[in-house]
Amino acid sequence: MAKRKSPTEAEDAPRIIGGGTHHEDVPFDRALRPKTFDDYIGQEKHKGNLRVFVQAARQRQEPLDHVLLCGPPGLGKTTLAQILAAEMNVQLHMTTGPVIEHKGALAGLLTKLGPNDVLFVDEIHRLSPVVEESLYLAMDEFRIDVMTGDGAFASAIQIPVPPFTLVGATTRTGLLTAPLYSRFGHHVRLDFYAPEELARIVRRSATILGVPITGEGALAIAKRSRGTPRIANRLLRRVRDFAEVLGTGAIDEKVVHGSSDRLDIDAAGFDEMDRRILRILCVDYEGGPVGVETIAAALGEPRDTIEDVYEPFLLQQGYLGRTPRGRIATKKAWAHLGLEAPSALKASDGPLFVAETSATRTTP
Ligand code: ADE
Repeated sequence: MAKRKSPTEAEDAPRIIGGGTHHEDVPFDRALRPKTFDDYIGQEKHKGNLRVFVQAARQRQEPLDHVLLCGPPGLGKTTLAQILAAEMNVQLHMTTGPVIEHKGALAGLLTKLGPNDVLFVDEIHRLSPVVEESLYLAMDEFRIDVMTGDGAFASAIQIPVPPFTLVGATTRTGLLTAPLYSRFGHHVRLDFYAPEELARIVRRSATILGVPITGEGALAIAKRSRGTPRIANRLLRRVRDFAEVLGTGAIDEKVVHGSSDRLDIDAAGFDEMDRRILRILCVDYEGGPVGVETIAAALGEPRDTIEDVYEPFLLQQGYLGRTPRGRIATKKAWAHLGLEAPSALKASDGPLFVAETSATRTTP
C-alpha cells in the first residue's frame, strides 16, 4: 500500500527545513550534487572506508560488496550511491522498494544490469516479502528464479544475472528483516553533518549558483539546516531570493538572520512543527513521557513522519529523550521554549528518566 503523504511532504505545503525532497529541489540537487569522493564534503570516516572498498573491488575486477546506507532523509544516500557507481566506473540503475511490485519486475531489473553495475533501491525496507525473498538468491549467488509454462506445466528454473552491487537505502534500519540486513557487506549509517561541514557545502553550492556569500553567512545557514545538506541547499536558495529582491544580492549573516525570521526558522534550526512537538511535551504533558502515537495524533501527522523526519535531529541535539514509556523533554527543550523546567529536572544532571538518545540507541 502506498505510504500516505504527510502535509509536510505534500506539494502545497513544503516544509523548508524538512529533509525529504520537494519537486523544486530536483534540478538544483542535480546541479549541486557532488559527483566524486573528492567533491563530497563530510562523512569522512565512511568516505575513507568506501574509497578503499571501491579500489579493492576495482583491483580484483569484482563488484563492490552490497552496501546498506541508512539515515534520515536528505543526508546524501542517493548521492553516495551515484558516487559509488561513478567511482566503480559502472552504470547506476535506480528504483524504489514499493515500485518493484512482483518477482517479474525484479527479474526485469536484474537482467538489464551490466557486469558489476550498481542497483540502487531506495526505501528498501518497503520491499514486498516475496520480492525480498527472491532478492536473496540474486544477492548471494547472482541467480534468480523464474517461472516457465502455465498451470500444470509451470516450473521454476534458475537463470544467472550479471554480478552486481545492491545499494539499499533506508531511513529506518529497525524495519529491515534480519536476513536482508545480514546480506549487506557494508553498513553505512550516515550522521548529521557538523555546522562547519554544512558551511563548506553551502559555500560550494553558492559558488556553483554564482551567489556571493560571506563565511559568516554560510555558517549561519549551516546552523539553521538541521545537520542536513538538502536543507542547507534549500535554505540557501530561499535566502538568495530575499537577498536578490530585498537586498544587494549578496548573502551575509544579517541577510540570513532576517530571512530565517521571515521563514519562522529559529536559531536552533527549528520550525513551527519542531516547536509544537516541544510544546506538546513540555506544556501539554509536563515534560512526558508521551507515547509517539499521542504526539502523532496531536500534530495530525503519521507516526512514521514523526519518527523519520522530526525526531532524529531533536534526539541527536539532546532536546528529546526516548524511554520505554515514551518521549521526554530534556532541560534543553524547556530552555528553548523559554519555560522553567520542573525543579526535579533542574536538579538532576541529565533527564529525569534514563533516556535513549541517538548516541545510546541500540537498533541495528
Ligand atoms: N551537496 C549536497 N551534499 C553534499 C556533500 N556532502 N558534499 C558536497 N556537496 C553537497
